[in-house]
Amino acid sequence: VPMSTSKLDEWVDELSRIGGDGRAVNRFAWTPHQIQACDWLVRQLQELGLEAEVDSAGNVVGRWQSGEGKAVLIGSHLDTVPDGGRFDGALGVLSALETVRRLKEDGFEPGRPLWLAAFNDEEGTRFGTSMFGSEAFVGTDLSHLEDRVDRDGTTLSEAMKSCGFDFDTIPRACRIEHIGCYLELHIEQGPRMQDRNLDLAVVSGIVGLRGYRVTLEGQTNHAGTTPMRQRRDALVGASQVVLALRQAALTAADVTANVGRIQVEPGGTNVVPGKAVLHLDVRASAGPQFRQITSKLEDIVHEAARAEGLTADIAVIYAHEPTAMDEGLSSVLREEMERSALAWEDLASGAGHDAQVLAKHVPSAMLFVPSRDGISHAPAEYTTPEQREPGVKILTEVVRRLCSSDIPRARRSDPNGGEAV
Ligand code: GLV
Ligand code: MN
Ligand code: MN
Repeated sequence: VPMSTSKLDEWVDELSRIGGDGRAVNRFAWTPHQIQACDWLVRQLQELGLEAEVDSAGNVVGRWQSGEGKAVLIGSHLDTVPDGGRFDGALGVLSALETVRRLKEDGFEPGRPLWLAAFNDEEGTRFGTSMFGSEAFVGTDLSHLEDRVDRDGTTLSEAMKSCGFDFDTIPRACRIEHIGCYLELHIEQGPRMQDRNLDLAVVSGIVGLRGYRVTLEGQTNHAGTTPMRQRRDALVGASQVVLALRQAALTAADVTANVGRIQVEPGGTNVVPGKAVLHLDVRASAGPQFRQITSKLEDIVHEAARAEGLTADIAVIYAHEPTAMDEGLSSVLREEMERSALAWEDLASGAGHDAQVLAKHVPSAMLFVPSRDGISHAPAEYTTPEQREPGVKILTEVVRRLCSSDIPRARRSDPNGGEAV
């Protein structure tokens, strides 16, 4: 393990040990490791002199109450995918923390409040409730999620209770009226920056994404006695869905489709599978393509079910529209990058982010630092200390500027067509 050179690198190591085993990191909403990470962050924020707490939705919110007007909010998330890496979300939160530390060290006095957030459950790993924390922060009604269950059948409200939270008090986490704008630093999570030798990227827009649970049911039966032509095999139907969906994404422009998990029941080698449950994710950056792949998905499932004599149920588990970032705020990022002599470009994000939720309410912008070999959502996810530094530097300068002047007026184009503000 190389020796840490800065506070940020020290924090990356320290945080990665919470829920980490030296290889992968596992921190999911409403589990002891996620709570421990939140408590750790609260302590760091308090040591820097900020007011900090975990809110009723499990978000860490730190507040540097200074000056007047609406706050500049910076942050990201602390939760991970199953067997995730050390940087997705975490680097954004820790860069925000380092920004605060540097501004404090410089004796800077913000002309407006500077807030930091670590949003809870951005990944939605346990309950499929992706961007739960940021949705609560902006005041989205989440009451329909109360009975959402995890793999073990525990409900969301039970899981919250076991960690000392109360589902009914989620609306108290809404504090968007205090916020003037949102900035998020994140790892790119793809190969484009490395390919183009970029130090930084300004995120032009965030992909639309939808997660589904598709349940196919046929007839459980004996593997040896049931004639091949008389089977209603749910896994065969599921396999057709996997391949047809991949084909649909391959033949569309700028569309992705993924089946990340399949449960087959009853799960005996000598039993025809009577039931298959698929968890899948489709994405597109542009509204028309996004609508097209979501409707195509339904056709594919119904066609596979018809061909195998299965019943099909399609449930949408999460949904986020394609989202443009704010032009004015992004230009502030671009100006600082121009000044710095760093190599940067605009880049569209194929990953979802909390900024997509915040952008519906306040001017929001994002900057990317590179991901080694484009790998993320995996233990091999890595961004070197030298690649982290330019991001923190730009974030710090932009925050300094936004806390000393007016926040640019909201300016956002709507990737779904038309102008939205
Ligand atoms: C979040 O990382 C997502 O893109 O699913
Ligand atoms: Mn992620
Ligand atoms: Mn992330």
